[in-house]
Amino acid sequence: MSKWLTVLCTALVWCCYFCSIPAATSVANNEADRVALLAFKAAIVEDPFGALSSWNHSLYYCHWNGILCSRLHPERVIGLTLMSQGLVGSLSPHIGNLSFLKSIILHNNSFHGPIPQEMGRLFRLQTIEFSYNLFGGGIPNNLSRCSRLERLNFTHNNLTGNIPTELGSLSRLRTLALYTNKISGTIPPSIGNLSSLSYLDLSECNLHGQIPGEIARLRRLIFVWLSANNLSGKVPSSLYNISTIILLSVAANQLEGNIPPDIGSTLPNLKLLYFCVNSFTGTIPTSLSNASDLKSIELCANDFSGTMPRDLGKLLGLRIITVHQNRLQDDLSFISSLTNCTSLQVIDAGDNLFRGSLPDSIANLSTYLNMINLPLNQIHGIIPSSIGNLLNLTTLSMEMNNLAGPIPSSIGRLHKLCIMFLHQNKFTELPSSIGNLTSLISLNLGENNIHGSIPPTLGNCHSLLELDLYKNNFNGSIPPEIMSLSSISTSLTLDHNALTGFLPSEIGSLKNLANMDVSYNKLSGPIPNTLSNCLSLEWLYLEANSFEGEIPQSLRMLRGLRMLDLSQNNLSGKIPTFYTTADQVQHAQTDQHQPTVQKKGSNPSSKLLNTPLAAS
Ligand SMILES: *[C@@H]1O[C@H](CO)[C@@H](O)[C@H](O)[C@H]1NC(C)=O
Ligand SMILES: *[C@@H]1O[C@H](CO)[C@@H](O)[C@H](O)[C@H]1NC(C)=O
Ligand SMILES: *[C@@H]1O[C@H](CO)[C@@H](O)[C@H](O)[C@H]1NC(C)=O
Ligand SMILES: *[C@@H]1O[C@H](CO)[C@@H](O)[C@H](O)[C@H]1NC(C)=O
Ligand SMILES: *[C@@H]1O[C@H](CO)[C@@H](O)[C@H](O)[C@H]1NC(C)=O
Ligand SMILES: *[C@@H]1O[C@H](CO)[C@@H](O)[C@H](O)[C@H]1NC(C)=O
Ligand SMILES: *[C@@H]1O[C@H](CO)[C@@H](O)[C@H](O)[C@H]1NC(C)=O
Ligand SMILES: *[C@@H]1O[C@H](CO)[C@@H](O)[C@H](O)[C@H]1NC(C)=O
Ligand SMILES: *[C@@H]1O[C@H](CO)[C@@H](O)[C@H](O)[C@H]1NC(C)=O
Ligand SMILES: *[C@@H]1O[C@H](CO)[C@@H](O)[C@H](O)[C@H]1NC(C)=O
Ligand SMILES: *[C@@H]1O[C@H](CO)[C@@H](O)[C@H](O)[C@H]1NC(C)=O
Ligand SMILES: *[C@@H]1O[C@H](CO)[C@@H](O)[C@H](O)[C@H]1NC(C)=O
Repeated sequence: MSKWLTVLCTALVWCCYFCSIPAATSVANNEADRVALLAFKAAIVEDPFGALSSWNHSLYYCHWNGILCSRLHPERVIGLTLMSQGLVGSLSPHIGNLSFLKSIILHNNSFHGPIPQEMGRLFRLQTIEFSYNLFGGGIPNNLSRCSRLERLNFTHNNLTGNIPTELGSLSRLRTLALYTNKISGTIPPSIGNLSSLSYLDLSECNLHGQIPGEIARLRRLIFVWLSANNLSGKVPSSLYNISTIILLSVAANQLEGNIPPDIGSTLPNLKLLYFCVNSFTGTIPTSLSNASDLKSIELCANDFSGTMPRDLGKLLGLRIITVHQNRLQDDLSFISSLTNCTSLQVIDAGDNLFRGSLPDSIANLSTYLNMINLPLNQIHGIIPSSIGNLLNLTTLSMEMNNLAGPIPSSIGRLHKLCIMFLHQNKFTELPSSIGNLTSLISLNLGENNIHGSIPPTLGNCHSLLELDLYKNNFNGSIPPEIMSLSSISTSLTLDHNALTGFLPSEIGSLKNLANMDVSYNKLSGPIPNTLSNCLSLEWLYLEANSFEGEIPQSLRMLRGLRMLDLSQNNLSGKIPTFYTTADQVQHAQTDQHQPTVQKKGSNPSSKLLNTPLAAS
């Protein structure tokens, strides 16, 4: 064949190909693209960054900002890309006239109103990226006619209605992302026809009903997000057979049933398993330790029982294990088994039936570990001093167990610790090295048997918002240093101890404090005037001490006070008048006829707390 003939044939082939597409035939259609784009622009009501200012008559439309024209058909628009431009408006139905369009990318703008059915005429379309807009109405079923569609991303919109059954015909679709919309109804079984699908995100879509078994026909699935819906029944067992799956999230639904025992071998590529907040039962499969890429195992708030798998330590990349709120019954040896997981960040096993003591080998856990969460179990014994090795720990939460003995002094090495909850145990001593924990935000040691004085070093913890030492045997006086911690805002509770001496006048530094309780101690002397500087106080409990003298009239400054209890002291004089005459008055007296003052409700028209009650 001569060279000329080849060229001619090629031209003919091209002609046949495109001539068979009616939209490409007439020159008028090129004008149609321009008209369609102008209609698109006309439907935009705000364009804060001038994204469309180049869209004017003096510039050829193929050169307009965000427009890509075909190289083969220079006057045909194939791409419209205007993301993050702050555009406000609706999407013109004329969009359906851009018959060569392959890609429309409008994410992160404020498009509202419906997605026009006319988009179904764009049968060359491969990508629709509309995430982070305000599109409303239903998903147009005509999109099913865009048979070359590969990516459909409607994440974070205001879409309603059902997932159209017709979408099942999109055999080239690889991504379907509807995350966070107001879609409802069930997952249509036709989803099983999306044979190219690898990324499915139907999280937070208000879906109910069962996960259709047809989903298991999607042999290319990699990411499966079905979380935060109202799905019920069992996860189709065949879904666990799709070996390509890397992420499987069904968290926060009403699903039930077991996790198949062989999940670790049928899903060998699994990295992320999110099953929290459902009603799953049975045991945690041992085979999980065969899915060697696993990074996150999240099974919290279900009904799992039995023991922890022993071999999780084989998962060298494991970062997060979350099993809180189940009925697991085991000792804590699984923790020792995790020492080879050198990336481990979170151990969260609270609210189960774990017993036994913390192994010394926690010292060998990953230095990346930032959370140990074991509250509400039956753990006894001591906290081993080796805990001081976990230098990256930010949360240590072991409240409501039977732990005893001194809190180890090595705790002072945990400079990043923000949250330390050890309340409701039987600890006996608090080391002064606690003062090294300058990142501490919340410290709760309430309801233990801690004796000795409150370490003044606590005054170094300048990030504290909450300090709770109630119901212990602390004695000695309250260190002025802790009363100088102006960061404390949520609560300072020292009640039910054996504290003596005066309330330090430094108390006036606690300007952000809402709740202070020093009741049921042996405090004496006057109530310091400086207390009136604590302008955020809402709850103030000073009862059952030996305070004496006059009640400072300056307390009237405490306008936000909702509860003031001064009963069972040796105070004299009048309770300050907190509000002026018009205010409602409510008295509440204790047995001892000593004052409690209450102000209830937040309605300013009924503010009360005017209590000229004589103290006895
Ligand atoms: C049209 O847009 C171009 C590019 O932004 C600009 O240079 C030109 O001045 C505009 N013409 C008119 C008439 O607005
Ligand atoms: C979204 O668009 C705004 C401009 O309107 C921009 O400032 C912001 O960074 C964008 N957000 C993302 C996540 O792209
Ligand atoms: C383009 O689309 C609109 C709305 O869908 C329609 O009214 C119009 O006839 C179409 N054709 C042209 C050439 O603009
Ligand atoms: C939607 O698709 C149907 C065919 O399925 C067609 O008849 C109708 O015209 C389409 N609607 C629009 C607005 O393009
Ligand atoms: C969908 O869009 C969001 C936001 O633009 C993006 O973060 C996400 O990766 C997209 N999803 C897919 C599967 O492309
Ligand atoms: C979302 O849709 C509802 C109707 O379903 C409407 O009332 C609401 O205004 C929409 N929100 C936005 C931000 O467009
Ligand atoms: C999905 O495929 C089944 C056959 O597997 C077919 O009967 C059904 O019509 C298809 N549905 C859609 C919406 O394509
Ligand atoms: C989930 O379904 C239950 C009843 O089955 C219903 O009470 C609840 O409101 C639903 N929740 C959501 C978020 O749709
Ligand atoms: C999973 O696949 C195996 C072999 O590929 C098959 O024997 C088994 O029946 C499948 N299980 C389910 C529940 O589909
Ligand atoms: C950690 O790995 C080493 C080397 O593979 C092995 O000998 C040891 O038993 C493992 N430790 C645990 C607790 O699994
Ligand atoms: C703590 O974690 C950070 C990263 O989160 C890491 O860079 C650092 O090396 C870790 N510290 C220790 C002592 O391992
Ligand atoms: C506490 O910090 C001081 C100095 O900042 C240091 O000398 C001491 O060893 C630390 N104590 C502990 C238990 O880490």
